[in-house]
Amino acid sequence: MPAFIMPCILTLETTCDETAAAVITDQLEVLGEVVASQEDLHQRFGGVVPEIASRAHVERILPVIDETLKQAGVTLAELDAVAVANQPGLSGSLLVGLMAAKAICFAHNLPLIAIDHLQAHIYACRIASGKNVFPCVGLIVSGGHSNLYRCETPLDFTPLGGTIDDAAGEAFDKVANMLGLGYPGGPAISRVAELGDPKRFKLPRPLVGDDDRLQFSFSGLKTAVRYALFGTGRPAMGAEANLDTQLIGDMAASFQEAVVDCLVNKSLLALQKTGYRRLCIGGGVAANTRFREAIQSATDQAGYELHIPPLKLCTDNAVMGAIAIERFRAGEFESLDLDISAGLVRIPQ
Ligand code: KG4
Ligand code: ZN
Repeated sequence: MPAFIMPCILTLETTCDETAAAVITDQLEVLGEVVASQEDLHQRFGGVVPEIASRAHVERILPVIDETLKQAGVTLAELDAVAVANQPGLSGSLLVGLMAAKAICFAHNLPLIAIDHLQAHIYACRIASGKNVFPCVGLIVSGGHSNLYRCETPLDFTPLGGTIDDAAGEAFDKVANMLGLGYPGGPAISRVAELGDPKRFKLPRPLVGDDDRLQFSFSGLKTAVRYALFGTGRPAMGAEANLDTQLIGDMAASFQEAVVDCLVNKSLLALQKTGYRRLCIGGGVAANTRFREAIQSATDQAGYELHIPPLKLCTDNAVMGAIAIERFRAGEFESLDLDISAGLVRIPQ
């Protein structure tokens, strides 16, 4: 049967700073896929500026949808539903995707499906592996989140723990800023860390060793980096600090190793506590090469099954919105009153 005769849905993703769309069949076949990154717009501010992000989504959403449909060879009228990530994320950004989805649904009388962005990050493992990955422990490590979940099914997540302050990706971005490496910090730190000595700086591994807690804490680690680099005064930061290349590499490697140790330690603890044998990881930080190596070797050693998607499915994209197929099959549709929900679920402390 030609792909376009199968039921297919348009998925939209505008939770943060990527404008993305995909067309996916009910057999999880990706017919078209576009991601328009805004990295260049936020670079000079050292982080995502919410107002700039939402304006850029407004400019990009229609061309991104057009291009995706063209790749897929389907028209709006041939779609069977439209799905949109309506939580969590930046309010202004979420609204752009939601309004675009509602407008298409209204104009073409199509059902609307809500996507939880965090569930979608874990679902990227389902798509990448081509097989069922539930139940599992889910770890989401991105710019805004560092959470552990018990994932019974693609749509049934119970929070086990998470960060009590900064997200892992946020810490990568801030430390990169201190080192004058620019935004986004994760890929830059990972690159320079390859030439660095991870043992040169003794940095803390917050909450590691406290086996009663499934929490992360990266704020103190970030401060420890700052003190190690500049002392306690008010130093010139970033490029103005004129740090030498070896020191930048060594600090990047030492910091990265500390974050990786925390993530690996608490992921294993979550597996032990739940009794689950499978770990699924999503979010931008899951693209980190050192983390991928370390978690692979730790889970291999302990006999757990590990799923981490390929790099382009780790960072924000609309293909992971294929989770909407699960709701489509269950007939779980939303009314056009659907709203955004910017906030996060409460993490047990
Ligand atoms: O999932 P994502 O694209 O967007 C959010 O939902 O936040 O994650 C973006 C985050 C940024 O903080 C970025 O620095 C981090 O993921 N990141 C990385 C790497 N690539 C992206 N962190 C560490 N190593 C990487 N290679
Ligand atoms: Zn994300």
